[in-house]
Amino acid sequence: MRTLDDLDVKGRRVLVRADLNVPLDGETITDDGRIRASVPTIKALAGRGAKVVVCAHLGRPKGQVNPKYSLRPVAARLGELLGQDVAFATDVVGDSARATVEALQDGQVALLENLRFEPGEDSKDDAARGAFAEQLAGLAELYVGDGFGAVHRKHASVYDVPKILPHAAGGLIVAEVEVLRKLTEQPERPYVVVLGGAKVSDKLGVIANLLTKVDRLLIGGGMAYTFLKAQGHEVGRSLLQEDQLDQVRGFLSEAAERGVELVLPVDVLAATEFAADAEHEVVEATAIPADREGLDIGPKTRELFAAKLADAKTVFWNGPMGVFEFDAFSGGTRAVAEALIASDAFTVVGGGDSAAAVRGLGLPEDGFSHISTGGGASLEYLEGKTLPGLAALEE
Ligand code: 3PG
Ligand code: MG
Repeated sequence: MRTLDDLDVKGRRVLVRADLNVPLDGETITDDGRIRASVPTIKALAGRGAKVVVCAHLGRPKGQVNPKYSLRPVAARLGELLGQDVAFATDVVGDSARATVEALQDGQVALLENLRFEPGEDSKDDAARGAFAEQLAGLAELYVGDGFGAVHRKHASVYDVPKILPHAAGGLIVAEVEVLRKLTEQPERPYVVVLGGAKVSDKLGVIANLLTKVDRLLIGGGMAYTFLKAQGHEVGRSLLQEDQLDQVRGFLSEAAERGVELVLPVDVLAATEFAADAEHEVVEATAIPADREGLDIGPKTRELFAAKLADAKTVFWNGPMGVFEFDAFSGGTRAVAEALIASDAFTVVGGGDSAAAVRGLGLPEDGFSHISTGGGASLEYLEGKTLPGLAALEE
């Protein structure tokens, strides 16, 4: 993969694909981690005298202009973090984009409006995507791919534009790939993976692959209930994916055959309803009352998971252990985060919710070896899939 050092950017228009998909509450950015992670590459390019044209998506507006998903608040925050103005184009490839790019001086930065306001960006039709990619590429002379969180998407700005323009990978992508490579190529053992989050169906590919690689797999969060049910336990009104039970039984037997320790919750916080102030109690994971739902792992499980992490040399963690957005059910996620912080292992937090949880719970980011900006992207990498955005940069 070519990197920034291989591009001569001075005085040239450089299109940077960043992942600035941050959580918003109205127009307030509630976690700016992805913007901060995008700053070094943009700064490096501006510092070398490029005219920097940043493009990114926010949410899933499905090809329609929708003010709710405007990147305008992100432009303001990016400007603060860069310490320089960021010009904002109110469209993606229209009059505003062209005029904004035209007005850039060497070392200046612009951000285009949400790429997904254009139907061509995420179209499944190669021709439609290609036509939009041509328009986007027309704004610049060079392309830098740095939106790690979106490299698993075969989208115009990720996959097609680097086929048109001379390109390189930005520093964030280089750093993320280096970390994931460490996890996939001879990780130091014991190698322990902690998975959580709501749905086991989102993680089937990665679990199948990890069972051939890890020493221990710890499962918490909503997906744990489908595992408990597959073992024959009642899970009350907890999240359950009935249609995944066979698949999960397969994982349980494969883990046993391969000697992978698959560790499930032994107790849970069982609540009367899905609410921040729901009445709840600690119950054995094998005895969840019929009218209750598990919203977090219990205290014995927190200790068990911490013990299973204590001697690890490599850890990957993706997905919260419970409904961490509710204070009462954030303890399991906090406990896992703290176990990672306490460990001497090479610890990687995989993107999205887990990274936001770490920051949201006020835990120190530097307690981890790496916090990835990509949730889906890092999982697909660990699954061994070819990621369109990386493949395009490698060509
Ligand atoms: C993410 O939030 O995981 C990335 O920004 C990709 O977004 P997407 O899942 O909507 O494609
Ligand atoms: Mg540590």
